Amino acid sequence: MKKEKTTRSRGGFGSKIGFVLAAAGSAVGLGNIWRFPYLAAKYGGGIFLLVYIIFAVTFGFALMLTEIAIGRRTGKSVIGAYRSADKRFAPLGWLAAAIPALILPYYCVIGGWVLKYMTAFFTGNGAHMAENTTDSAGNEISRFAEFISGFGQPAVFFLIYVLIGSAAVVLGVEKGIEKVSKILMPVLLILIIGIGGYTLTLKGAGEGLKYYLLPNFSGFTAGMFLKTIAAAVGQLFYSMSIAMGIMVTYGSYMRKEDSIEGSVRQIEIFDTAVAFLAGLIIVPSVFIFSGGDKDSIKVGPGLMFDTLPKVFDSMPGGQFIGAAFFVLVALAALTSSISLMETVTAVVIEKFGLSRAKSCGVVIVFTIIIGMLSVLGYSKWSDFTIFDMQILDFFDFATNNLMMPVLAFMTCIMIGYAVKTKYVEEEVMYGEKQFRSKKLYEVMIKYICPVCMIMILITPFVTKI
Ligand code: PHE
Repeated sequence: MKKEKTTRSRGGFGSKIGFVLAAAGSAVGLGNIWRFPYLAAKYGGGIFLLVYIIFAVTFGFALMLTEIAIGRRTGKSVIGAYRSADKRFAPLGWLAAAIPALILPYYCVIGGWVLKYMTAFFTGNGAHMAENTTDSAGNEISRFAEFISGFGQPAVFFLIYVLIGSAAVVLGVEKGIEKVSKILMPVLLILIIGIGGYTLTLKGAGEGLKYYLLPNFSGFTAGMFLKTIAAAVGQLFYSMSIAMGIMVTYGSYMRKEDSIEGSVRQIEIFDTAVAFLAGLIIVPSVFIFSGGDKDSIKVGPGLMFDTLPKVFDSMPGGQFIGAAFFVLVALAALTSSISLMETVTAVVIEKFGLSRAKSCGVVIVFTIIIGMLSVLGYSKWSDFTIFDMQILDFFDFATNNLMMPVLAFMTCIMIGYAVKTKYVEEEVMYGEKQFRSKKLYEVMIKYICPVCMIMILITPFVTKI
């Protein structure tokens, strides 16, 4: 097909690099930093890295390509996009809108925590955050536990974070999101390379590095291998921002003359490279700090807000490295929350016919109200749990472990068996000479991806990763 310039009434990305960096900005997030290194450390180092890369270029590639193609072909927000693709699958559009709407508030709450730590390290209080303290009952707790249990500070940092994040969305796709991504993503890359390089010069880093990179087969059974696959697939799924409606939305803003296949390859390399580099910072530094105890490489908030401040505190130049590190995390989180907010805002613009600024206002108010529930869930309402989970963890579980795999599974069924893969392939071929991975794509979307999705759905009920 011939290349044509597109005229898009909704506005969109002005360049390919702008699109790739914005999508990479969405993909690179907290997951890359606080989950990937932990999984690599837990599942045999090099073995996990290899499995992850293989799935990234096959499974992750197919799912991301599908979403971007649906978005660009329909040129609509998620609700309109799924309806246009196939009326019978219209409910998926609502699911794809509900997921980012539920993730955005709690993601911003965590973003607020990052801002707090960034501020602390910048004002020379990093060492303070690394100390333990005692609660009112006299038990020893981390500063982090103390911080989230007090309502005021987390609430204020959450509000600031929401306002900063929404600025790019209010300004629009080209003037806001694209511009911001073009500046922040290169800065992020420089920071992560710089900090990674520094940690590798620390005494004892070599041992940690070996642990991270070399395949470790000791105690590696067939069952363990299956678990490694499940962990890699689950991580990829989250890391590439799949099944959150984001890639459909960003795809709808992509120029017709740019290559979808080439862009997906670039996004995937960016995302995987950042995850890998985050591991270069975290695995060796925690390894040195703990005197080689691998079990001290934790996952999630415990790693980021408790272990790492202690690690930085023990490092020469740690205040400075800690400050740079939390800027890095803030950038990673910010571009991800921008993509969530844009996805929800696009729905409000389309469904209610409001202006961008007003729609964004609606999304901000919603985010603040729902996000406050998560803030309260860790502080004033900490006795309240849903299925034994705090409110924030419950939102996280419901979206990540239930809604997202269901959406991705049904999207595979829609493309593989209802509208057929041609629907995506035609869009990928638009203006291109060839679709290199077409055969791979078909096998993935029809058979492998649906099976992987079922695996992700049942894993948390069978085992704890
Ligand atoms: N891909 C992000 C990460 O790795 C996850 C994410 C993206 C979460 C966008 C929310 C919104 O952390």
